Amino acid sequence: MAEVWNIREWIVGWDTEVPLATGGTRRYVYLDNAASTPAFTTVRDKVDEFIGWYSSIHRGTGFKSTVATHVYERAREIVLDFVGADPKKHVAVFCVNTTEAVNKLACCMRFPENPVVLVSPLEHHSNDLPWRRYAELAYLPLNGEGGIDLAATERLVASLSDRLALVAVTGASNITGQVICVHELARIAHANGVRILVDAAQLAPHLPIEVDSSEPGAQLDYIVIAGHKMYAPYGGAALVARRDALSSCGPACRGGGTVKLVTRDEVVWAEVPNLLEAGTPNVVGAVALATAARTLQSIGFDRIQQREKELAKLLLEGICAIPGVTIYGSADTDAPEGRLGVVSFNLDDVPHQLVAAVLSYEGGIGVRNGCFCTQPLVVELLDIGREEFAERAVEILAGDRRRIPGMVRASLGIYNDEEDILHFLAELGRLARKGPRLEYEQEKATGEYHPEGYRMRPEEYLSI
Ligand SMILES: Cc1ncc(COP(=O)(O)O)c(C=O)c1O
Repeated sequence: MAEVWNIREWIVGWDTEVPLATGGTRRYVYLDNAASTPAFTTVRDKVDEFIGWYSSIHRGTGFKSTVATHVYERAREIVLDFVGADPKKHVAVFCVNTTEAVNKLACCMRFPENPVVLVSPLEHHSNDLPWRRYAELAYLPLNGEGGIDLAATERLVASLSDRLALVAVTGASNITGQVICVHELARIAHANGVRILVDAAQLAPHLPIEVDSSEPGAQLDYIVIAGHKMYAPYGGAALVARRDALSSCGPACRGGGTVKLVTRDEVVWAEVPNLLEAGTPNVVGAVALATAARTLQSIGFDRIQQREKELAKLLLEGICAIPGVTIYGSADTDAPEGRLGVVSFNLDDVPHQLVAAVLSYEGGIGVRNGCFCTQPLVVELLDIGREEFAERAVEILAGDRRRIPGMVRASLGIYNDEEDILHFLAELGRLARKGPRLEYEQEKATGEYHPEGYRMRPEEYLSI
């Protein structure tokens, strides 16, 4: 365990001091890792090393191009290894982010007539909206614990029969932290002749995700991971797929790099991955993603899981002990399917925007508030009825975001520690018991709160 304690030293900027509106500065406590993680020093160092060799890849003939091409293709192998994929059977396609990866797959897939894509009610908009463009959506039934009801899923999948084009599901909820039983869903999908995509953006930095499974039929056909959620914020992500599951795909985007041959009248398309990587790729992002994957593997998921579970328990128990708190999702860190250290909550009578503002301005703590790009689920969990939602929607569409529904989310990374969590709990507890230290005003257009007469001055900290 000793090395894990030092893990914060592997994080770029873990000790950054930030100003407080109450005066002075303090070490920033970042609890928004579910949105984006900071960079591992290993990632920054490898990118720094690589940048001296940076050159155009694949089509360049100079020495630096050869090195850069080698590194890019090696990054592909490392990403495949990270998800237990076999380079003969699987392929990794580099993308910009999770959203682009899902859109890429959606727009190059062949759909049956009148198609349905089965998603879960927990999906981020990025694994919901792309499918709405091509198919009707059906939603996986949830059980009482917020996981998937497998028996009801079997019935639903069978009833959709030939119309079912794909099961597309997150590996873990970015709201409740609930881990989803993706291999069981894969087994059901495959038994009905349907493939499965797992959006593993939220899961990949916390738990191992493997394409294969020892259980027959439970392998995953497509997995998406993103560097900015895995300590590699350089714009790299990957879609890993079984080669045969991409064989009927056309190009997602057309242009340089996607072809074998072009005449004035004819195009012969390249094979994957090139077919799906139009234009000059983000080589730096690929190097960063692969280095982060390697670093996570070297720390070891057993240690990551054990440490994050301890931290999640401290965070959850501490939040639950604060008066007037409602937690959305299970507070049980020992739940059979598991949960990540992602905790969404509200404080009675304190708007979510104000909670986040007070934590930031008075506590130097970064959390997230709002709907987390998962609006339908948030509205359901908040139990906002149709009429009230319609009223608020009118206000929002008229440019008044003060009553936008939302929650506050605190989410952990492997480098957070007890000190971070205890500071967060102390600030939240103080707010619940005594209210803010300062007077705040709310902006109509954004719904955000600021201390009266105080503005952050980011330009004094970093100019460009
Ligand atoms: C589960 C999940 N899927 C997709 C996304 C979107 O990721 P990206 O910003 O990489 O497109 C997020 C980001 O929060 C997420 O949590």
